[in-house]
Amino acid sequence: MPDITAQTDSSAAPDTGATKPLLEIADLAVSFDNAVGARIQAVDGAYLSIYPRQTLAVVGESGCGKSVTAMSILQLNPSPPARYDRGSILFEGRDLLSLSEPEMRQIRGSDIAMIFQEPMTSLNPVYTIGDQIMEAILLHQEVSKSEARKIALDALKDVGIPEPERRIDQYPHQFSGGMRQRVMIAMALACQPKLLLADEPSTALDVTIQAQILELIDRLKVERDMAIMLITHDLGVVAENADVVCVMYAGRVVEYANVFELFEEPIHPYTRGLFNSIPKLGEMRDRLITISDVVNSPEEFQKLDAGIVPWWPGHEPPPDMAVSPGGDVHVLHEIKPNHWIGCWRTETLEGHRSRRPDLAFYKTEADVEMVTYDDGNGTQGGDGDS
Ligand SMILES: Nc1ncnc2c1ncn2[C@@H]1O[C@H](COP(=O)(O)OP(=O)(O)OP(=O)(O)O)[C@@H](O)[C@H]1O
Ligand SMILES: [Mg+2]
Repeated sequence: MPDITAQTDSSAAPDTGATKPLLEIADLAVSFDNAVGARIQAVDGAYLSIYPRQTLAVVGESGCGKSVTAMSILQLNPSPPARYDRGSILFEGRDLLSLSEPEMRQIRGSDIAMIFQEPMTSLNPVYTIGDQIMEAILLHQEVSKSEARKIALDALKDVGIPEPERRIDQYPHQFSGGMRQRVMIAMALACQPKLLLADEPSTALDVTIQAQILELIDRLKVERDMAIMLITHDLGVVAENADVVCVMYAGRVVEYANVFELFEEPIHPYTRGLFNSIPKLGEMRDRLITISDVVNSPEEFQKLDAGIVPWWPGHEPPPDMAVSPGGDVHVLHEIKPNHWIGCWRTETLEGHRSRRPDLAFYKTEADVEMVTYDDGNGTQGGDGDS
């Protein structure tokens, strides 16, 4: 494994000129009105940051708050029922949560674009592909209709749609699933965003198309100096594409580290469970280890120093909590340099005052080969079928 400490030095980063994150989320909490009973706390104090030309992967089980976090960046959660309870989302130093709807409209699709989890529902079936891409361009750029068409054609070419001159006047139903996903990407990229939010951009696609889409996003990232928040369930995709990984559970960040560090030494029991639950070829088992097996074994939570206990919502807090009633019981603790895990806010940790997760880490081409993601079959880097 590479020397992680040396790599997390920002001098190892490509020359993006970036000394500050492009996006910084701190203590974000978002809840939904449930009509009956208590509000659903979808996100409950999330922290992350993304530097220019960096890929931050957000992983975690269904319902843990990944999409709500991404949608919060663009204030796209329907409100009501959504409510932004606390926190800040700084983009180039401006808090997006404090912006008005007209100000947000300026940012959506221009500085920050999103590829949604369900491409089939995001394209309007009654308009041509060209009309839909051009609409986004005309909204954000001072160009004529014919110039917008030219930009749309270039965007379709960029994402590898064959015969773009003919395809641009067709309707979504005339495109295959993979091509519709490419159209979504073309639409997102036509305005040259600085940040792309890619919510499961390849889940609905077969493995070959999935790899092509991810390769495409990666190429465009380098060509355009774009930062990417990549939401995925697939640890193979993470191994191959991420610089930094944020693991979420129940609206909280439970682990945060660069991709090498996380795959080499996952520390939080949930992350360990996540890695253990992947079937490995060549390994005989009566039954797979599940995440519950790991998070339900008390010794998994007793491996760290005294007073440092991984946070887990199903457990009773440890006795030496430093929180007054109603206070935040969770703290993201920098357990070793540049590696954070979610812990209970005990008296021991209250004295430490960890810094926020912030990693100007970039994987280089040579490093990609070195991410250890051993599927038991000698394959490294993940093959997208986990
Ligand atoms: N519009 C909504 N109204 C009510 N609850 C919502 C709404 N959108 C999301 N939620 C709730 O917020 C929580 C987080 O949802 P979110 O969509 O962020 O999960 P996710 O991590 O993206 O999951 P998945 O991997 O399945 O996409 C869930 O409990 C979900 O039910
Ligand atoms: Mg989602």
